[in-house]
Amino acid sequence: MNKEKNNQLSSRRNFLKLTGFGAAALGLQQFSCKGGGKPAPEHTIQGLENVDEKPDASKPWVAVSDRKIRVGLVGYGVCKFSAAFGFQNHPNVEVVAVSDLIPERCAELAKVTRCNKTYPSLEELVKDKNIEAVMISTDAPGHARHSIEALKYGKHVAVNVPAVHGSLEDADKLYEAVKKSGLKYMMFETSCFHEDLYAMRQIYNAGGLGKLIYSEGEYYHYMPTPIDSYKGWRIGLPPQYYPTHSNAYYVGVTDGSFTEVSCLGIPSIVDHLKPGNNPYRNSFGTEIALFRTSEGGMSRMAVSWDSPGDSGEKGRIRGQKGSFYGKYQGLEKNLPDLVRPSLPPGVESGGHGGSHGRLMDEFVSSILQDRKPLIDIAVALNMTVSGIVAHQSALRGGEWMKIPQYKL
Ligand SMILES: NC(=O)c1ccc[n+]([C@@H]2O[C@H](COP(=O)([O-])OP(=O)(O)OC[C@H]3O[C@@H](n4cnc5c(N)ncnc54)[C@H](O)[C@@H]3O)[C@@H](O)[C@H]2O)c1
Repeated sequence: MNKEKNNQLSSRRNFLKLTGFGAAALGLQQFSCKGGGKPAPEHTIQGLENVDEKPDASKPWVAVSDRKIRVGLVGYGVCKFSAAFGFQNHPNVEVVAVSDLIPERCAELAKVTRCNKTYPSLEELVKDKNIEAVMISTDAPGHARHSIEALKYGKHVAVNVPAVHGSLEDADKLYEAVKKSGLKYMMFETSCFHEDLYAMRQIYNAGGLGKLIYSEGEYYHYMPTPIDSYKGWRIGLPPQYYPTHSNAYYVGVTDGSFTEVSCLGIPSIVDHLKPGNNPYRNSFGTEIALFRTSEGGMSRMAVSWDSPGDSGEKGRIRGQKGSFYGKYQGLEKNLPDLVRPSLPPGVESGGHGGSHGRLMDEFVSSILQDRKPLIDIAVALNMTVSGIVAHQSALRGGEWMKIPQYKL
């Protein structure tokens, strides 16, 4: 067994020791995303395959500056995510340093991003005064803490979903930290650059949908055994702690929010989703939330780990003037430009429906143009916190609960 595998196993063992759950009882398996080992089909993380997409000649990428932003990349876990967005290939970016707690991962991240400076941790990397912005691809429970730490040292923050992990208190702390800093914060919600969601947003903003009456979104990802993760954070994860891929099909379309929720769950037959087998004491593998939206409409958002079959991150919307079910059908005849932004030469649109490169370019552009990034702190928290409250509602048998609101 190589050293990296040893490290992965020991971090999991420490977690299991801490929480008192045995690996044997959970039937844990080694997991690897595309490109790293031998993934079992049912354990691959959906969406990591790159989209083979030709640049649209009618819409060339235009540089907004010739400046290079100095970026640090942190976290190269099971999804190898810090390298997946293409910062290393953007003409306005210099990757000056990388980090992962596990030395072998850190070294590989440096190699694949052609970077020769490494730090043993995010906490050390953010002290580097030369770095302006940090991409955080650490474990989900670390996101709030790591984002706040980077902001404290004056770095713009790009971070993977979710913004916070199950804690409303962390959400408020993060919100205050971003506001106080005056820096850019963007959550990389991949659904926001799906072709359909991007089109929905353009049509919504142009008035072609009116108010949304009803929207529905799903994140279906069958996980009969938990995918490997740092200190085992995916073991028994309450589904609505990971709500942003589905919630984006309302919040990411309108920049609105969910104000109240009633959510139901069903006790799972999957081993790691039994309350005695996970640190969350969670019994739900599927949670279905019904939200009241800030426009007064309704949304049904589903997250499921324990039902095989149809999978993915998707959604549909119905408005007063039109609907979008794979395509627009409605009253508006003159639709706006629905083609997604082009990318600089050398940057691939990448995985999760061609969203990776575009999320990265949007973050970089927001810094260069000193403007709000697409998924700013308010949007990120409105997408994330609504799921946390949804899980609380499910624990109370579907009781209607109010959701904290974030607005910049
Ligand atoms: N579609 C999507 O948007 C999508 C898909 C997959 C994963 N994700 C998100 O991407 C993130 C990464 O996923 P993963 O599966 O690779 O996670 P993981 O748990 O496998 O790995 C996390 C990595 O972060 C490192 N790390 C933790 N604390 C650190 C610190 N202080 N300094 C430096 N490194 C540190 C760990 O050593 C580990 O290698 C997660 O937050 C996940 O939610 C998003």
